[in-house]
Amino acid sequence: MNDTKLTDSASSKLAPKPLVFSGMRPTGRLHLGNYFGALKNWVGLQEKYPCYFCVVDWHMLTTGYENTSSLKDNIREMVLDWLAAGLDPEKCVIFKQSDVSEHAELALLLGMTTPLSWLENNPTWKEQLQELSKTKEELRTFGFLGYPVLQAADILLYNANKVPVGQDQLPHIELSREIVRRFNSFFPDTFVEPEALLTWSPKVPGTDGRKMSKSYGNTIQILETEDSLKEKIRSLYTDPTRIKSTDPGHPEPCAENPPGCSAFSLHNIYAGEDFVKQRKSDCRAGKIGCVACKKDLLAEMAGPFAQFRERRNQISLNPESVSDILKSGAKKAKTAASETMARVRRAMNLV
Ligand code: TRP
Ligand code: SF4
Repeated sequence: MNDTKLTDSASSKLAPKPLVFSGMRPTGRLHLGNYFGALKNWVGLQEKYPCYFCVVDWHMLTTGYENTSSLKDNIREMVLDWLAAGLDPEKCVIFKQSDVSEHAELALLLGMTTPLSWLENNPTWKEQLQELSKTKEELRTFGFLGYPVLQAADILLYNANKVPVGQDQLPHIELSREIVRRFNSFFPDTFVEPEALLTWSPKVPGTDGRKMSKSYGNTIQILETEDSLKEKIRSLYTDPTRIKSTDPGHPEPCAENPPGCSAFSLHNIYAGEDFVKQRKSDCRAGKIGCVACKKDLLAEMAGPFAQFRERRNQISLNPESVSDILKSGAKKAKTAASETMARVRRAMNLV
């Protein structure tokens, strides 16, 4: 009973104009890994496309349901850091998933057509189950298994066709596409298949030379104070085979080429090409000491970090601002989401 009129109006609405959606779990303050891996890219996209950026607090609950006491603070801190990184609520829609209940409704309906085996075979689920079950309560929950269905609902509610994500999220985007295809096979032309928008981003080393990650306790936050940034740069992991400053060093990313040097990876991100080339050869030749080299790094990072701090201070002057931004974002998101839900209900003969 999917009459053609509905199909026509649906597809005209779904003309392939680029529309961006992405989400982030509210883990609290942003670090440089989050910034270079996602936020910097989002800030660029808001200039070019209509964008929705969502605090996915329900996704957080899929693994963090046993203690939600810091959830509200973490959401607030993360949104403040989004703004400090340069997201502008005048240019994009910033909102919280749980403020738009349509996300739950659509996830429920997509769940009707999504085979359990797809979720059970999801590599991300299997890995995380292994990794997190050491520290977490019961993780074999309905909610956690359904993580990709909720993620598909996030994207599809806004007819978003561009989804900026990191490499690690590709299986989830592929699942979203499969979920769409199967749903559309019963209810034709309801959704467009979203695409991952992969942008190159530098690998950010943590202060200990491993990948930067909150769980390793090796992060540099974007809101470090001048002093704490200085201290973190001072204590950065550098090539441990260099005892004297005249010893030849290994200015390489540590993960790819041990022993490597975190400071060098950061120069690679913050300094110009010529400087990096010169520093590489000076380090290899034992012509520069690590203390001096890190001083240069701190000087390169000072400007960008001052800008983060300045933006965040501006925003913190008005304590209401985060809740206001989320409220007005939710209103805009809700308008778009409820249009989609009306279409879905019609397509499924629920109305
Ligand atoms: N799963 C994503 C992550 O962990 C977060 C996310 C939830 C998301 N919903 C989304 C990302 C929709 C892109 C689109 O990073
Ligand atoms: Fe790293 Fe610089 Fe020391 Fe070389 S001189 S090991 S690049 S900190």
